[in-house]
Amino acid sequence: MDRARKDLDTCQSLADIIELRLDLIEDFDLPLLLKEAGKPCIVTNRCKMDGGQYTGTEEERVAVLRQAIDLGANYIDIETSTPGPLLKSILENKGSVKAILSHHDFTRTPDDLNPLYDLMSQLPADILKIITYATDINDNLALFRLLARAKKDEKQMIAFCMGEKGEVSRILTVQQGGWLTFGSLETGKESAPGQIPAKTLKHVYRVNDLKPESKMYGVIGDPVSKSMGYLIHNKAFQDAGLPHVYVPLLVQNVTRFFSAYEPYLGGLSVTMPHKEAIMKSLGRIDPAADRIGAVNTVVPDGNGWAGYNTDCSGALKALEPHGSLKSKNVLIIGAGGTAKAIGQGVTDAGAHLILTYNRNKEKAQELADQLQGRLISIRDVDQADADIVINCSPVGMAPNTNDTPFPARLLKPGMIVFDSVYNPMETRLFKDAQSAGCIAISGVELFVHQAAEQFELWTGKTAPLALMRQVVEEKLSPLE
Ligand SMILES: NC(=O)c1ccc[n+]([C@@H]2O[C@H](COP(=O)([O-])OP(=O)(O)OC[C@H]3O[C@@H](n4cnc5c(N)ncnc54)[C@H](OP(=O)(O)O)[C@@H]3O)[C@@H](O)[C@H]2O)c1
Repeated sequence: MDRARKDLDTCQSLADIIELRLDLIEDFDLPLLLKEAGKPCIVTNRCKMDGGQYTGTEEERVAVLRQAIDLGANYIDIETSTPGPLLKSILENKGSVKAILSHHDFTRTPDDLNPLYDLMSQLPADILKIITYATDINDNLALFRLLARAKKDEKQMIAFCMGEKGEVSRILTVQQGGWLTFGSLETGKESAPGQIPAKTLKHVYRVNDLKPESKMYGVIGDPVSKSMGYLIHNKAFQDAGLPHVYVPLLVQNVTRFFSAYEPYLGGLSVTMPHKEAIMKSLGRIDPAADRIGAVNTVVPDGNGWAGYNTDCSGALKALEPHGSLKSKNVLIIGAGGTAKAIGQGVTDAGAHLILTYNRNKEKAQELADQLQGRLISIRDVDQADADIVINCSPVGMAPNTNDTPFPARLLKPGMIVFDSVYNPMETRLFKDAQSAGCIAISGVELFVHQAAEQFELWTGKTAPLALMRQVVEEKLSPLE
């Protein structure tokens, strides 16, 4: 009870309605909680079958809801799994208290939720709540279709998916016509799988402010949980006065995802492992992205979609203030995806490219041939005579922050050193470069510029670069 009362305080600035999960509060004092809530309350006493912790009998459990009705709570939540006579008696004798009739499926999302909706609609509840578990990102769309139907039927409905693949519907449910979405009090205090902190829902995704015309943007990848895109792009949309939202989308099958989500989308970021697979869903590929063979940005293009690579254009933008690349010796450490994108960009800008191999000479040779660059072993970097060094390997990334891919003794004043690693923000290579009088560019610049290029492609507006940089730096700051 002490914790619950403190939690009520935290809710005040976050919630419009507070759900009192009595099954999670030991020895609860319902009159006191209702008195101190300060906001309309939903009283819920969840049984185990529906994901709750209540251990008493069904009669005892429902008696608590009866007490909530007698105390004049605003809403009660009662499950479809409640024994028929108990369910009927409470729904028929609830006075002016509004009843949410809820159904939870913790294992899957059935393709067709209409039969369940029809059955639930026959009971005298005020609000229907259908919550399922997303095993696939496309499951969320079944809930969006259900919300569209409820809207047409003028029924109030709560509907979204649980689990990491359900995050998109937790964020968009209200915009799609849902009556509310649930947020956790803070990370670690979730009362259901995939619940997002209320603070994030309200201040990052701005769920209260989304409009019917808000478009969905997002990053598709596997995994996507570590991506910072949702912080930077939502902030940029807000700063530009745009009502759009950017969400993480955990996608396994890109083609299936794209064909189903197309009508909802304003644009996409694409990350590993989908940068090549997405290309066949798009009508047009920008020539640079085509040469790289990878797309990280999807943009509406007439009636279809176009693909771009802003890892490439973003890197060039980060290098731009430091002079022309023409005829410069650019040493790229690594020969993976990032090396390919940046290597293509610097080659197109007229630089002489030198790539390094570490374990995988054959693959690196293939890329060097494609980009008409020179290939050397990582152990021979002293032979490169580089004007510009770009680290496109993971060397120096946390936790191995003492490692560097390029010896400090080879750094000379005036050299440009660009590290694509951004965790930590200041890598050993970055600090060595600063000490040696080089122009040092951090991985944050690559991240921010590739995101800024995406924003500009999607919106046609100038990206708020300084704000975007601030968001990334705050997130990566060791004090966080
Ligand atoms: N700032 C940003 O926005 C941003 C964006 C994308 C990527 N990145 C950074 O770029 C890094 C590379 O990403 P990626 O997608 O290109 O990865 P990737 O495709 O796996 O390629 C990694 C490359 O690094 C080389 N490498 C690995 N360990 C090495 C070592 N000890 N010494 C020298 N070379 C080594 C690999 O060579 P072998 O296979 O021959 O070992 C490979 O060519 C990431 O770790 C990330 O930190 C940053």
